[in-house]
Amino acid sequence: MNKTTAVSHALLETIQIEGRSVDVLRLDRHHGQAPGNKWFKLNHNLGDARQLSARTLASFGGAWSNHLHALAIIAAETGFASVGWVRADGLETAMLQDAQQAGMQLVFLSRSEYRRRHDPGFVAELLGDIDAPFYIPEGGGNLAGVQGCGDILKLLPNAGADYDEIMLACGTGTTLAGLVAAYQGRGCITGVPVLKAEKFMAAEVNKLLAQLPVSSCQWRLDHRFHCGGYAKLPDYLRCFIQQFESKQSIPLEPVYTAKVFYAAQQRIRAGEFAPEEKLLLIHTGGLQGRRGFPDLYPDLYSDLYNGG
Ligand SMILES: Cc1ncc(COP(=O)(O)O)c(C=O)c1O
Repeated sequence: MNKTTAVSHALLETIQIEGRSVDVLRLDRHHGQAPGNKWFKLNHNLGDARQLSARTLASFGGAWSNHLHALAIIAAETGFASVGWVRADGLETAMLQDAQQAGMQLVFLSRSEYRRRHDPGFVAELLGDIDAPFYIPEGGGNLAGVQGCGDILKLLPNAGADYDEIMLACGTGTTLAGLVAAYQGRGCITGVPVLKAEKFMAAEVNKLLAQLPVSSCQWRLDHRFHCGGYAKLPDYLRCFIQQFESKQSIPLEPVYTAKVFYAAQQRIRAGEFAPEEKLLLIHTGGLQGRRGFPDLYPDLYSDLYNGG
């Protein structure tokens, strides 16, 4: 792998992986302190919240949730209060500290309470305590979130239509669904689930897509690269991250983006792309979460998460 070389488009870089040119959309450099796919997931929700004269944005997340982190920051930037219902793991994390500093009120739920997060009656009960609330589901995974993610394509020349394949990490599949719904090109959009999701993620994505105008975009999930499950960091992934970051000027994090770049490297090695095919990887951010891996990033300070 060689050093990154900048190309003309602001958030687009071309790197070499296994001797092959690969474009990278650096959403980790998008929107300051709430980078990655997060602004896109929340932007349309903010519009809906304003229309309903809501004053407080409320959502669920774990102690290392990128979503709650971004919600706290974006709420503060846009004049909303925010409430985070947090699965109590007994952790005072750097992420929750940031969220609190941004003004988010944290409400800790027991594991059994947290399991009820999809129960409308339970959500209504929680919302009852909040001033003019606007509810956003865990991970920003609602229709407004999907629609906002379609706007990611506007950052690409020709809205990404010239790529043969676009790869990105999937947690809930919301970002993938947004891209699929909005994409007008000839390429295939490949989601790389970062958790063991063979049994449900395709159905979840299809459920989101069914609420939108029919798209002719080819898409698929490549389940080979979850690396053991959510937030698992096997030695081979750790090694990949260390080697990649020593050669490239693109920082990764183990939970989402490293798995996509690792998938691309493995697929290139296996000869899965024809020589003329144009490949784009979307870096969906999450670098603030590197603070959860102090043995991998021992020198990481909290101000290092936005692009280097
Ligand atoms: C950094 C990062 N990348 C990718 C994703 C996956 O996005 P989605 O849940 O829309 O599949 C997430 C989760 O929201 C994330 O935090």
